[in-house]
Amino acid sequence: MSLWGKHIVVTGGGSGVGAETAKVLSLAGASVTILGRREAQLQTQSLPYQVCDVTDAAAVRAAFEAARKKSGPIVGVVANAGAAESAPFQRTDIEAFRSMMEVNLLGVVNVWQAALSDMKAAEWGRMIAIASTAGLKGYSYVSAYCAAKHAVVGLTRALAQELAMTGITVNAICPGFIDTPMLDRSIDNIVAKTRMSGDKARLSLASVNPQNRFIQPTEVAQTALWLFSEAAKSVNGHALALSGGEV
Ligand SMILES: NC(=O)c1ccc[n+]([C@@H]2O[C@H](COP(=O)([O-])OP(=O)(O)OC[C@H]3O[C@@H](n4cnc5c(N)ncnc54)[C@H](OP(=O)(O)O)[C@@H]3O)[C@@H](O)[C@H]2O)c1
Repeated sequence: MSLWGKHIVVTGGGSGVGAETAKVLSLAGASVTILGRREAQLQTQSLPYQVCDVTDAAAVRAAFEAARKKSGPIVGVVANAGAAESAPFQRTDIEAFRSMMEVNLLGVVNVWQAALSDMKAAEWGRMIAIASTAGLKGYSYVSAYCAAKHAVVGLTRALAQELAMTGITVNAICPGFIDTPMLDRSIDNIVAKTRMSGDKARLSLASVNPQNRFIQPTEVAQTALWLFSEAAKSVNGHALALSGGEV
C-alpha cells in the first residue's frame, strides 16, 4: 500500500506507539508530521515536527497551520498523545479527572477539529484515536483514565455517524498493555506503592492479556496503517481491541 501524497499528523510522535506509528506511515510513503511537548524527544525521530500541547486548542490550530504550510493539507490524524494517572477513586481529586479528560479526550477533539476542513475539502480522511482497552472495560485504580478513554470511544462512534457521507472514517484502536515508556512508568509506580519487585509487576501486568504478553508498538502501528488503506474504507466507528482476547 502506498500513502504517497498523504499528509498525516501523529500526536505524541516522539515516543512509544506514536513514534512507531509515525515511522510505519512514513515508510509507507506518507508525509508525516509529529507533535508533542518535548522538542528534544521529537528531534530523535528525524521527521518534521511541531512542538505543541494538544490540550491547548489555539496552539493545536497554529501547529496544524504551520504543518499544512510545510507539507500540504492534512488528510490523516492519529490522535495518540495521552497520559495515565493511577490512584484509588477516593484519592482521585477533581483536578486529576480534569487533567485526564483534558489530554485523553479534549486532546483528541482539538486535533481532529483542526484537520476536519482539510479532510472535507479532500473528500477523504482518516481519523484514528489510540484509545485503550480502558475505553472498553474497567480497571481498578484508574477511574479517571478509564472514564476519559471511554469518552474517546463515544466520541469516535458519534463522529463516525456524523461524517459517514464525507469520505472520512473515524476509528479507535484499543490496545491492552503495550511495551512503551508509559508501561515502564506504571511498573515504577506499582513498585513504589507496593512491595512487589519490578519483574513481578511486569509479569503481573502481562498476565492480564490472555496471551500473557505485552502488545508491541508495531502491532498498533500496523493496525493504523491498515485503517489508512482503501480496503478499510467501510471500517467506521469501530473500537478495535488489540488485547490478545482480554476484551
Ligand atoms: N502503554 C500502554 O500500556 C498503553 C495501553 C493502551 C493505550 N495506551 C495509549 O497509547 C497512547 C500512547 O502512549 P504510549 O504508551 O506510547 O506512551 P508514551 O511513550 O508515554 O507516549 C505518550 C506520548 O504522548 C505525548 N503527550 C502526552 N501529553 C501530551 C500533551 N498534552 N500534548 C502533546 N503530547 C502529549 C508525549 O510526549 P510529550 O511528553 O513530549 O508531550 C508522548 O510522546 C496513549 O494515548 C496511551 O493512553 C497505552
